[in-house]
Amino acid sequence: MSDKQIEFSQKQEEVISLLKHGKLKRINLLEGSVRSGKTWISLVLWAMWVATQPKDASFLMAAKTLTALERNNLNLLSALVGTDNFRFSIASKKAELFGRNIYLEGASDVRAENKIRGLTLCGAYVDELTLIDEDFFVMLLSRLSEPDAKLFATTNPDSPNHWLMTNYIERAECGELDFLRIKFSIEDNPYLSKEYVKSLKNEYTGVFYQRFIKGEWVAAEGVVYPEYADNPQKFLKDKPQDDISFATIGVDFGGNKSAHAFVCLGFTKGFRRCVVLDEFYLKEQISPERLCNEFVAFCRRQKERYRVYEAYCDNAETTLIRGLSNAVINCGLAIDVKKAKKTKIIDRIRFINALIASNRFEVLKGCCNVNDALCQAVWDSSEQCDVRLDDGYRNVDSLDALEYAAEPYMKEMMSVS
Ligand SMILES: Nc1ncnc2c1ncn2[C@@H]1O[C@H](COP(=O)(O)OP(=O)(O)OP(=O)(O)O)[C@@H](O)[C@H]1O
Ligand SMILES: [Mg+2]
Repeated sequence: MSDKQIEFSQKQEEVISLLKHGKLKRINLLEGSVRSGKTWISLVLWAMWVATQPKDASFLMAAKTLTALERNNLNLLSALVGTDNFRFSIASKKAELFGRNIYLEGASDVRAENKIRGLTLCGAYVDELTLIDEDFFVMLLSRLSEPDAKLFATTNPDSPNHWLMTNYIERAECGELDFLRIKFSIEDNPYLSKEYVKSLKNEYTGVFYQRFIKGEWVAAEGVVYPEYADNPQKFLKDKPQDDISFATIGVDFGGNKSAHAFVCLGFTKGFRRCVVLDEFYLKEQISPERLCNEFVAFCRRQKERYRVYEAYCDNAETTLIRGLSNAVINCGLAIDVKKAKKTKIIDRIRFINALIASNRFEVLKGCCNVNDALCQAVWDSSEQCDVRLDDGYRNVDSLDALEYAAEPYMKEMMSVS
């Protein structure tokens, strides 16, 4: 460990004492509330354990992406144990921890499983396990073939239908697996200020509060935006309350049963509020030419009123995106048409709900489709992961378009309290 004095919370001490007393299992899962100190102690635990393993053994560290792994784990591990003891290279996807060889991997999709085929591992570390594909996890367990091999993982709770719960945690509870589950709560972390914990708690409502603050594995059920659906009048405005400093456009392309939807979303000064300013919604099969014409007309209308330079489109449709981009360029409109980021749906929904809860979200009265969509959205609890019910009758397209427009500035909006 580094020369700096390292302090542990009481909960973290418990984790280290499991290591010291040889009570770790084959799978060791640290789970619970956000910011509760799981990742921090998991890295200390991992480093202490790896240091006791054979010098010629191989190890793996993974997260959803290599970027996330570097940001959340590798930099911290290096600060904790010192750069003499831990070195890494993202380019070569390799690291060395106390002289042991560590592979680094991002496990963002089903194909990730191929990346670790054939390895023989003595230990693995996975941050944010529920974000990883089950096939990768199954492959990883099969690669942990050395005697006494161990896996260390952290996660926040998810749906009770998530593969990690149904195929592992529940089976572990019945004693079927060599599995240790250590639960963390936000109160277990004394290193957070009271004000920070308070503002964090205000950020989450409903199912998100239960999962991310209380650390419970609960299903997302019922209405998706309960506070909005209870009283839409509170959020519907004739005009924006504050000046719009700039706006973005979100585009969801229609298919067989779905509609074409555009949403223009305004951001007020200092990222105080988001305002749904205008919308386009058409549920019929139209030619690509017609779609381009409608888009150009929509962009022109927004350009006349707001500073808008970017449009974010459903990224499944590359040819359509190129078509829209050419159409606006040909009409002399300075709008950069690009692929939407498409972050996890649960994060996008949580974001809109956080704005609603803090009264930072408005919809202009003309935007009936967005309003109806927000009121009608319900969770599809039959799915393994969190999705809105898309039964062909409910409008999820306006919500997708709204989220694509919001996504690029979610971080800026959330950093304003
Ligand atoms: N022993 C410690 N000493 C100093 N700071 C700590 C300690 N443990 C945790 N922290 C700090 O508390 C914060 C939250 O810790 P950490 O990132 O480990 O939480 P987490 O449970 O992994 O959160 P999330 O679920 O959001 O990923 C971090 O800023 C971390 O630096
Ligand atoms: Mg973490």
